[in-house]
Amino acid sequence: MSSNSPIIRFKDVYKYYYAGDEKVTALSGINLEFQQGDFVSIMGPSGGGKTTFLNCLGGLDFPDRGEIYLNNRLLNRMNDKELTELRRKEIGFVFQFFNLMPTLTVQENVELPLLLSHSAKTESKQVQILLDYVGLFHRAKSFPAELSGGEMQRVAIARALVHQPSIILADEPTGNLDSENGIRILELMNKASTDFNTTVVMATHNLQIADYGNRHFEIRDGKATPRAN
Ligand SMILES: Nc1ncnc2c1ncn2[C@@H]1O[C@H](COP(=O)(O)OP(=O)(O)OP(=O)(O)O)[C@@H](O)[C@H]1O
Ligand SMILES: [Mg+2]
Repeated sequence: MSSNSPIIRFKDVYKYYYAGDEKVTALSGINLEFQQGDFVSIMGPSGGGKTTFLNCLGGLDFPDRGEIYLNNRLLNRMNDKELTELRRKEIGFVFQFFNLMPTLTVQENVELPLLLSHSAKTESKQVQILLDYVGLFHRAKSFPAELSGGEMQRVAIARALVHQPSIILADEPTGNLDSENGIRILELMNKASTDFNTTVVMATHNLQIADYGNRHFEIRDGKATPRAN
């Protein structure tokens, strides 16, 4: 595979939702290409289509028209099993509400993607290295409820990185954090993107947060446009 072929490609992607009799066009002809290692920030008004875009890219939702390629593989043609496999191997997710398992410790939360993808053995060393990376080695045995929001999101980042995904999708990763913790999370994602050459695609409402990264877009009325900065 050529090293400069895009890791992510959207070709004329449309997504509709039906609310009663009303048809909502959530994505309206998206054409985009991102390269390996890009850090992409997406802004735009509420209801503009950011989450729909990320969900379609992550195989959590399906476009009605157009093509989405991840690593030159067409997502639209994959069945559920293939999509699940793809998510577990290639994609790390970071959410606004952290989405940690409350009954598992920090260490177990980070291990979970490895268990789910049936890694031959759980590589506890890898988990420990990542906990150290996000500055939470000392909290390995804690439960999520014992952590601050910023700490929970750092656990979520370690969890998103543990299976060495090629892309990380982050939907308002700082939406529930104060600005100091938000910036810390962004710096960590930025560092991870450089250290592991991971492509990061992030939606945010926060202008300061959106200035991170090398590609800046706005999604409004289901259409994506480059954002001047
Ligand atoms: N499951 C659904 N059923 C019906 N309409 C939906 C559904 N999900 C999203 N929509 C609609 O699709 C449009 C795009 O929504 P989306 O969640 O992608 O916006 P967003 O940019 O993420 O907004 P926010 O900034 O508030 O998170 C909106 O009009 C929304 O109401
Ligand atoms: Mg959203």
